[in-house]
Order: sequence, then structure tokens, then C-alpha cells
Amino acid sequence: MDLNQFLELFLFVLVVNCNPGPLADIVVDRYEIPKVCSREVQTEDFIRYHFNGSFYEDGKKFDSSYDRGKAFVSQVGLGRLITGMDRGLLGMCVNERRRITVPPHLGYGSVGTGGLIPPDATLVYDVLLLDIWNAEDKVEIRTISKPAICKRTTVASDFIRYHYNGTLLSGEAFDSRDQLDSPSVTTLGASKVIMGLEEGLKGMCVGERREVVIPPHWAHGEDGGVPGSAVLLFELELMQLQKGVPEGFMFVWLGDIPDPLFNALDLNGDKRVPLEEVSSKAWSVLTIAVSF
Ligand SMILES: *[C@@H]1O[C@H](CO)[C@@H](O)[C@H](O)[C@H]1NC(C)=O
Ligand SMILES: *[C@@H]1O[C@H](CO)[C@@H](O)[C@H](O)[C@H]1NC(C)=O
Repeated sequence: MDLNQFLELFLFVLVVNCNPGPLADIVVDRYEIPKVCSREVQTEDFIRYHFNGSFYEDGKKFDSSYDRGKAFVSQVGLGRLITGMDRGLLGMCVNERRRITVPPHLGYGSVGTGGLIPPDATLVYDVLLLDIWNAEDKVEIRTISKPAICKRTTVASDFIRYHYNGTLLSGEAFDSRDQLDSPSVTTLGASKVIMGLEEGLKGMCVGERREVVIPPHWAHGEDGGVPGSAVLLFELELMQLQKGVPEGFMFVWLGDIPDPLFNALDLNGDKRVPLEEVSSKAWSVLTIAVSF
């Protein structure tokens, strides 16, 4: 190697060092990890998260879930997201904050996306993870306390009174009947509350307290009064339980009364009408409290 060649190489190395070019891989900075992390994001999990997306070069924002007005929902690891995010979100806990820096070859490449992302852009995503769930997830029930004496537990068609607090996994309340003095009332097995709550209230003793985690497919699904696709946490306390519909309640028919009434009520045709049949969902029966 003569001097010229050496200088050329030296200059080349110098130029490379001054302008290091794109990162070889994503960089993940987990800057806020919650103390309790019972579950980490795995391939094929669904997640709900907030994010701010900005350019690495100048820090300018290009997209944000907050500007869209709702958290982002996706499935991880199946190519629905850019490769950098499919990989960068793995292992994340609910309520964790992390920064994922994505080089162009794991993002939008040398093409970019129409107007939004220019070619060869390195992207920075600040992410706050709200929920993780999977299609196989069931309702998770944890008993907090249970009275020593429990003669019987709740079954379908029972009429119950209960207290509840409803929150998101962030702890943010979306609903609470507990602030009111009067507990909620419902008939179990009559689809009057979301499926997951029916499940969570089953097999419960009077006085028992539970914590119930309900994935979105057991709750409101993608829509609903709470944020769409949210995992819900309920604190429950069963106050009272009665077989069927209690005294002091009466039925009101919605629409025309079937004729003859008895045959219409006797769903299985056994010439008897137990309360289960009366409260069956097949009839649009509305129970209302009446003080005699
Ligand atoms: C996004 O930016 C807003 C405004 O600066 C901030 O309040 C929010 O916490 C950021 N979210 C994330 C996930 O970093
Ligand atoms: C609901 O929250 C309040 C306040 O934290 C608490 O006192 C009450 O016991 C909770 N209710 C249930 C059913 O856990």
C-alpha cells in the first residue's frame, strides 16, 4: 500500500466515522418497567398501546396515537407491524414505557410511505403498553377473601346483589357502583352483564371478594362504552344471593302477551313453570323492583 492508498483509506475511515449511517439493528431502551409484570408480550399476542413516533434525525413527530384519539391495537410478530416494531415490542410488560429506535431496513426502507415517512428514515417510537391478550385467554379469577362458612355458591338463574369496581389495567376507573350505597343487582345466566362478569360472579359465596381480569373478547370486544379492545379488571364482593327471582319483584311483558300464557311460559312442555323458565332469555322478560 503506497502513501496515497493509505491516505485514501484513512480518509474513507474518517468519513465513515463522522457519518455512521443507519443502525444495524433496533435499539430498545426500557426506561420505565413496572414492579409487577405477570406477563410479557409474545409473538401472536394482541396488544393495545399508546405511542409517539418521531424522526431520529430531528426529533420531529410524524404520528401519535394521542393525535388519533385512541390507543393503537395490533397483533405482534406476524408482519402486521414494521419488522422493527414486531421485534421491539416483544417482552414488554403492561404499564411499561420503552423507546424503540428502528433503522430504515427494519422500518419503511429506502422507499418510505406516501408523504408521511421519507426514504431511509430512522424512527423512534415511545411506547406505553396498556394491554396484552390472546385469543385463548379466559377470564382470570383470583379470590381475595372468602368467609369460613359458605353454605352455597352462585349458579345460573340466581338473583344476586354485589358491589364492584371496574378499572383498566392502568388502574383508571371506568365504572364504579361501589361509590353508590346500593349494590348492583342481576340475574345470573340471563346475559344481563358482559360474559366475563357472568363468569366472574359464578361459584361465589356471599361475603366473598374477588379480582377478575376479563380479556376484550369476554367483555365489550372492539367497541363498547369503555375504550375498545380493553382488558378489564373488576373487584367484586357478593352481598346477597337468592334462588330465582325474589319476592317483591314482578314481571312486565314487553310486547303482546302470548296466548295461552301458561304454554308459552312452559318452555320444555312439562306442565310446570319453574323460575328458571320464567327468567329465561327466550322471553323478553323485564324484572323491575316494586315496593308493595
Ligand atoms: C407522548 O407525548 C405526550 C406529549 O408530550 C406525552 O404526554 C405522552 O406521555 C407521550 N407518550 C408516550 C407513550 O411516550
Ligand atoms: C372498591 O374500591 C373502594 C375504594 O378503594 C374499596 O373501599 C371497596 O372495597 C372496593 N370494592 C370492592 C367490591 O372491592
